[in-house]
Amino acid sequence: MTEIYRASTTAPVNIAVVKYWGKRDAKLNLPTNSSLSVTLSQADLRTLTTATCSSTYTGEDTLTLNGSPSDISGARTQACLRELRSLRAALEEKDPSLPKLSKMPLRLVSENNFPTAAGLASSAAGFAALVRAIANLYELPNSPTELSIIARQGSGSACRSLFGGYVAWRHGSQEDGLDSKAVEIAPASHWPEMRALILVVSAAKKGVSSTSGMQQTVATSDLFKGRVATVVPAHMDAMEKAIAARDFAGFAEVTMKDSNSFHSCCSDTYPPIYYMNDVSRAAVRAVEAINAAAGKTIAAYTFDAGPNAVIYFLEENSNLIIGTFYKLLQGVDGWKEEAKASSSSIQLEE
Ligand code: PMV
Repeated sequence: MTEIYRASTTAPVNIAVVKYWGKRDAKLNLPTNSSLSVTLSQADLRTLTTATCSSTYTGEDTLTLNGSPSDISGARTQACLRELRSLRAALEEKDPSLPKLSKMPLRLVSENNFPTAAGLASSAAGFAALVRAIANLYELPNSPTELSIIARQGSGSACRSLFGGYVAWRHGSQEDGLDSKAVEIAPASHWPEMRALILVVSAAKKGVSSTSGMQQTVATSDLFKGRVATVVPAHMDAMEKAIAARDFAGFAEVTMKDSNSFHSCCSDTYPPIYYMNDVSRAAVRAVEAINAAAGKTIAAYTFDAGPNAVIYFLEENSNLIIGTFYKLLQGVDGWKEEAKASSSSIQLEE
């Protein structure tokens, strides 16, 4: 009888509060600086991936993404598949009784539980799920941190999606990238009141890809040199302390400052890159208004390489923050209709 070997897994989306921006090695996706993220709930945003292989399969490896064939011939995906196969081949060599899965073509099927058209970064969850599904199929004994070194080569931010909760990606200094990996700072249960509200400002695909945006920033921004040398190390330190102490005001201040620093570096490139738009800036003002009215910092904004806002807050302020956003942004073009359909307060992942 010919067997079909199968494994399924899910991986969550993560949103950085200290941003990864800049590569020191584009081939291996080695970053110029460390970063730190919060993993979002799988109930809201996740990729589900099933990996199968069989000696009856012929031809190349294939990936079906949200029901359509997807091209996996790119160097990044190929690097992940190559590394996972060679780990499996090493196990098969050690134990010849193991089935030779490393020699069989892979059939990968992935699905996101959020609209791909929502303009939310899906590559982090996508690569993390792909790597973990194949690692499970191959019964690899490697830890999430070890797998993060492989997922990083697919998409940098993917290395952080191998964990729930609060996750740091240490930039490392080795040329081979073996010390550029993700570690868990704290599980979500450490601070279960944390919530995220995603405001979908635009469903359009981002104008400048993160890879070319990073390249342009590293090559042309003077401000970026200071970000790497002093701003990010200080933010990493302060953020880890704020998370350890469950200090929301501290967490929020670093989150907002780091987002501001990242977007300032983007507009300091030549020619400049603008990911945020007028609607994004209205969301910044709304957070400022909420914090001013509260007399303390109860909400924090952050923006990735696009105009959508992610607002962090604690559960106790949920009604106030979601209600205020609806009220304050009602008159602003570009956010209201989409936000009603797609924004939600979501819990963090264990
Ligand atoms: O992993 P990439 O290549 O999609 O880059 C992600 C970059 C940001 O989302 C802007 C920041 C981050 O740390 O996730």
